[in-house]
Amino acid sequence: MKKEFNPFITSLYEGPEHFCDRKSETQQLIDYVENGTNVTLFSIRRLGKTGLIQHVFNQLTEEKDTICIYIDILPTQKLEDFTNQLATAIYNIFPPNKRLGKKLLAFIQQFRPTISFDELSSNPTLSLAKASPIQQNKTINYLFNFLDSQNLKVVFAIDEFQQILEYPEKNTEALLRTHIQQLKNTSFIFCGSNQKMMHEIFNSSKRPFFASCSNMQLDFIPTTVYSEFINSKFTERKKAITPESIDFICEWTKCHTFYTQFFCNVLFSKNLKHNDIKDAHEVAIHILKINESIFYQYRNLLSEAQWRLLRAIAKVEKLHQPNAKDFIQNHSLGTPSLVTRGMDALLTKEMIFHNSSVEKPYYEVYDKFLMRWLQQH
Ligand SMILES: Nc1ncnc2c1ncn2[C@@H]1O[C@H](COP(=O)(O)OP(=O)(O)OP(=O)(O)O)[C@@H](O)[C@H]1O
Ligand SMILES: [Mg+2]
Repeated sequence: MKKEFNPFITSLYEGPEHFCDRKSETQQLIDYVENGTNVTLFSIRRLGKTGLIQHVFNQLTEEKDTICIYIDILPTQKLEDFTNQLATAIYNIFPPNKRLGKKLLAFIQQFRPTISFDELSSNPTLSLAKASPIQQNKTINYLFNFLDSQNLKVVFAIDEFQQILEYPEKNTEALLRTHIQQLKNTSFIFCGSNQKMMHEIFNSSKRPFFASCSNMQLDFIPTTVYSEFINSKFTERKKAITPESIDFICEWTKCHTFYTQFFCNVLFSKNLKHNDIKDAHEVAIHILKINESIFYQYRNLLSEAQWRLLRAIAKVEKLHQPNAKDFIQNHSLGTPSLVTRGMDALLTKEMIFHNSSVEKPYYEVYDKFLMRWLQQH
């Protein structure tokens, strides 16, 4: 029997019907693109930045005749890799049998590309001839300008953009900034999973990208909206789910998109006609069990004091004041300075995040499953 498609996506975007909300954010990004404004998308990890870009691209390509090019530069290690990715992404957008594809192919020949096929996706991958840094700089400029001069609206999304800080070519930021600001028909969406590095690139007054983009902060999907989405995905497929179970899922995963999606995916895959609170509890236990070895690995990465602090944060769930006397005493965390150092280490290691975009800012454990597990240990 063919396995039923699971409507709760935990990897790549699968179309608007599986995408929850983000209506105003989608509209805002489309407005930015249409105004030619470059934008940087910020959020804590696993909240849905990449998904939102794909959702926006889906709408832009279907409705607005816009050329949308997405590149994820996490695997790149140097400018040469970036250039090849850029060339590959552009090449894959225009099939060589169409007018612009032919033009592009002719244009790209000057860089003496080698074309191979990706083993997994079987998409063509371009590798341009080795070139000096100066020549590479020119190549990037040519590639951007080629598209910009076609009288088309073009939008580039560069995901995991903080990766450019790892390149040995230390002038990458300046170089990209220079090319980007000369384009007329092209806008950019930058995003990345490392918030600290992304803020460094875009919000530090000494850096080339400072004040060059509008900032957009992505927040949690509201509980009521997520609840409605969960309910509709179950009922559309003739499965019942009790409000009590939905409340439990949203609370247990704190509506942190990836964790909520993952939970619902597991529950849905049980293929039950009725999903009540007992089933949701079973899924929670199952998830903690399958992740336990990862939790122990986390523990090995931390000092004893950091682990104790992490557990204390998990127990209070939202920590407003790390140096509050009660918090330190109740959890035997030592001195305020030890806690301060521990908080810095946990933030750097991305075990916790700081949400400052609410009235009462707080710290919270990143991984919601780890948080629930720590509460029991
Ligand atoms: N609005 C949404 N509705 C349903 N699923 C979503 C939504 N947004 C994101 N997802 C799914 O949640 C998961 C995490 O989202 P995504 O990868 O977009 O987060 P991210 O912010 O880019 O994470 P990272 O910071 O690690 O790059 C993905 O599986 C994605 O498909
Ligand atoms: Mg992402």
